[in-house]
This record gives sequence, structure tokens and C-alpha cells, in this order.
Amino acid sequence: MHSPFDLSKPIAIGSDHAGFDYKEQLISFLDGKGLPYKDFGTYSKDSVDYPDYAHPVATAVENGEAAFGILLCGTANGVAITANKHQHIRAALCWGEEIAKLTREHNDANIICIPARFVREGVAERMVQIFMTTGFEGGRHLNRVNKIACA
Ligand code: RB5
Repeated sequence: MHSPFDLSKPIAIGSDHAGFDYKEQLISFLDGKGLPYKDFGTYSKDSVDYPDYAHPVATAVENGEAAFGILLCGTANGVAITANKHQHIRAALCWGEEIAKLTREHNDANIICIPARFVREGVAERMVQIFMTTGFEGGRHLNRVNKIACA
């Protein structure tokens, strides 16, 4: 499988309780493909606070320890808002295949944020497959991406 990411590194994955079931499904999907991953939790459906999982995933991606990141919560807004506080993170809220493709092509997103309560069964896996195999287009989009950081 061709990927713009270095898939010899683990994929960082994390969720809160609302994203737990889809996180487990995505881990099975990654296992099935023989892809390494690091599961940052949560590890049950007990109620937790999404920043406690989004920050470690974002840090792993930011530090280059992870190839890219996958975050899930109920709406994906909580994890996306949190992850995007990190300077080198471009965390994209994705709810369909086309958005997952476009955020790689146009935004060079390095974390995909999935709203577990708003995507149908199977869509999460298809979005991750598209996200990890789609390259950044560069060109005019590079100029824009270069203007995102505040510092
Ligand atoms: C949890 O109930 C929910 O608030 C959380 O998963 C997420 O949707 C927050 O943005």
C-alpha cells in the first residue's frame, strides 16, 4: 500500500468514551492490515474527558513518534479543537470519504478526527484508508498551509 506517511512508525489512535467502540473497530482494521499503532485510550466506555486522550495523540504526531493520528469523540469537535492547539498539528474533522480525501490533498492534515455519533458503520474504516493513502497536492495549497501557524 502506498502512503505519504511513514507507516513504519505507529499510527497514534485515541478516543473518549463516545468514540470507544469505533476506536476498537479501527484497531481491528489496522491489525487486519498489519499496520503498527499505539492506542492512547480510552480503554472502556466509562465517561472521560476528551482532552486527556487528544493531547497525547497530538503530541506523538507533533514529535514525529507517530506516522499520523486518529482521534474520535462524539462529534469530533472536542478532539479536533484540542489537537489543533498543538503548533504542528492539522487535525481535520471528517464525516465522509470525500472530506477525508480533500483534507489530505488541500490541508496536509496529519490527524483525522471522526465523529463517532454521526458516521455510519464502515465509514470510519473507509475514511482512514483514504486518509492514509492520499498525498498532499502542494502548490497553491502549500502557500495556504504555510500561513496556518500563529508563531
Ligand atoms: C461526550 O458526551 C461528548 O461531549 C464528546 O464525545 C464530544 O462530542 C465533545 O466534543
